[in-house]
Amino acid sequence: MAVNLKGRSFLTLMDFTPEEIRYMLDLAHDLKSKKRAGINNRVLEGKNIVLLFEKTSTRTRCAFEVAAMDEGAGVTFLDSGSSQMGKKESMEDTAKVLGRFYDGIEYRGFDQEVVEGLAKYAGVPVWNGLTDVDHPTQILADLMTIEEHCAKPLNRVKVVFSGDIRNNMSYAWMYGCAKMGMHYVAYGPEELMAELDQDVIAKVQEVAKETGATIEVSSDPKSIVGADVIYADVWASMGEEAEIPERVRLLTPFKVTEELMASTGNPDCLFMHCLPSFHDFETKMAQSQKELGYDIREVTDEVFRSKNSVVFDEAENRMHTIKAVIVATIA
Ligand code: CP
Ligand code: NVA
Repeated sequence: MAVNLKGRSFLTLMDFTPEEIRYMLDLAHDLKSKKRAGINNRVLEGKNIVLLFEKTSTRTRCAFEVAAMDEGAGVTFLDSGSSQMGKKESMEDTAKVLGRFYDGIEYRGFDQEVVEGLAKYAGVPVWNGLTDVDHPTQILADLMTIEEHCAKPLNRVKVVFSGDIRNNMSYAWMYGCAKMGMHYVAYGPEELMAELDQDVIAKVQEVAKETGATIEVSSDPKSIVGADVIYADVWASMGEEAEIPERVRLLTPFKVTEELMASTGNPDCLFMHCLPSFHDFETKMAQSQKELGYDIREVTDEVFRSKNSVVFDEAENRMHTIKAVIVATIA
């Protein structure tokens, strides 16, 4: 049956079939080619979208804004300091109001329940721009980037996430890999394994049975052999800065170094990262933590800048994939 995503919210990849994810990826590849050729079909003329950010952002906000403007839609940006949401107005009432004004709502914040609640009450598609437990638009961009750089289908690709295996990116990867029949290894310390949500693990293993995916959690260095992608993320996510000392202690052995890349045994292994990244001390946070005695770099500068690193292709692809999601759901 033909895929039709019109009117659907995009809250997690777990809500979509592999065919629907394939459809969004194909659309993203097509929209990227068109943009490169100078073609924007302006299929969102007359539409308006609103972006709600309760956490900071560079890529996601700009991707939504450029994607919408390329296709002719109007955009409103609201951060937590400049709207009533959560302070003087409930999420339910906010959703009902915004649904009267806008054709789609993007939300970035803390609890997945908030983005689910917005989708329940808004009456228009809601797109998840990152919560504490998921980041589905990032995974679409990452899958697209893998397809551009790996000469094999996704269901033969092995992705190893090295670091904070219980963060939003690690869970988002579990969902993406389970759905697309891929091999995923969450490679991190045993102490963090105890914090993994076992209901999520059970759900992805159910999906994996249907798609042929392999989803593993491991602290064994042998588990990274044969990786096509080594993926890193910051060790303390937004809102978790107090955890930095403990995370540095736990995650330094999982820092992505040239040795770790070589230990995959795959000279073509890609290095990927959702960004922003601590790969040097050119940020206030990395520098101030260094002064306190903590090296928070999750990847070395050599790997980050190496020929195998595709991090800026990923960043660009955020825009093309987010455009695909908006077009597929509201055009
Ligand atoms: N990767 C990502 O979501 O980046 P931003 O936090 O800048 O949006
Ligand atoms: N895990 C990171 C991802 C940023 C895109 C965070 O939530 O801060």
